[in-house]
Amino acid sequence: MHSSEEIWKGLVLRQKEYRLGALQASPQCFASSYDREVAFEHDVWDTRLRNPLAETLVAVRPGDKSGRLADQAEVILYQPWLGTIVLTGPMEGHNSVDPLVKGNSVVASAVDSPNETMQDATAKGEDSVPHYQLNAIYVSPSDRGLGIGKLLIDAAIERVVSKEQDAQIARITLIVDYYNHAARRLYERCGFQVIRRYFFDDPRLTKHDEDPPEQTEAAVMERIMELQAAIDKVY
Ligand SMILES: CC(C)(COP(=O)(O)OP(=O)(O)OC[C@H]1O[C@@H](n2cnc3c(N)ncnc32)[C@H](O)[C@@H]1OP(=O)(O)O)[C@@H](O)C(=O)NCCC(=O)NCCS
Repeated sequence: MHSSEEIWKGLVLRQKEYRLGALQASPQCFASSYDREVAFEHDVWDTRLRNPLAETLVAVRPGDKSGRLADQAEVILYQPWLGTIVLTGPMEGHNSVDPLVKGNSVVASAVDSPNETMQDATAKGEDSVPHYQLNAIYVSPSDRGLGIGKLLIDAAIERVVSKEQDAQIARITLIVDYYNHAARRLYERCGFQVIRRYFFDDPRLTKHDEDPPEQTEAAVMERIMELQAAIDKVY
């Protein structure tokens, strides 16, 4: 049995390893880069995981039936990670953090940093509708095509539903490179629609500092969800 401090340190390390692996394996899919994040001190990873505004949901294989893996944190610590997603929000509020179990996989929540690139694209500002953002979805290459991506998004949506029991609707947004077909298709399958397309100067495409910036097309996608409070009102 490990102390909660040891488990926490282990989780910080796992999150760091998984994130760096994702940045190495799929550099074209993320706004950040391996070179940038590999230089982060331990404190940065620790702070990222403690951030109360953002939860990282982790998909893992089911735990040991003997019960040796005593709680969710230990399951996440010792099982191979299949994929992760970050849920940020509500944009003006604070999240509580606790684990979830979903179907055959354990989906547990820790916390991660909010995505800086989301702020601009989803800042509608005019509404009081609870607003959440998804980012950094990643499934390990050998586990793709098995429904893990959808599982992660469904788990994030369930988190929003459970946190917004007094709301009638909630809004979830994300940003995707428009030509990242796998990701866009996944989001569409999960009920998201493109609400805006735009070009941005893409530092990932600039090989030398003196080169003119090259542009990439991105899309903001949105899902508006009707929640329980609205359903209660109707019936
Ligand atoms: C995008 C990604 C998360 C999908 O994860 P996944 O676990 O393979 O997705 P799922 O198995 O849950 O697929 C769900 C749906 O997404 C779509 N999809 C997934 N991969 C696809 C692909 N390569 N091509 C087309 N559609 C794809 C399909 O519609 C699929 O549903 P279906 O099989 O019923 O048709 C994964 O490919 C990945 O990690 N890519 C690299 C990181 C990335 O691009 N992240 C997005 C940043 S915005």
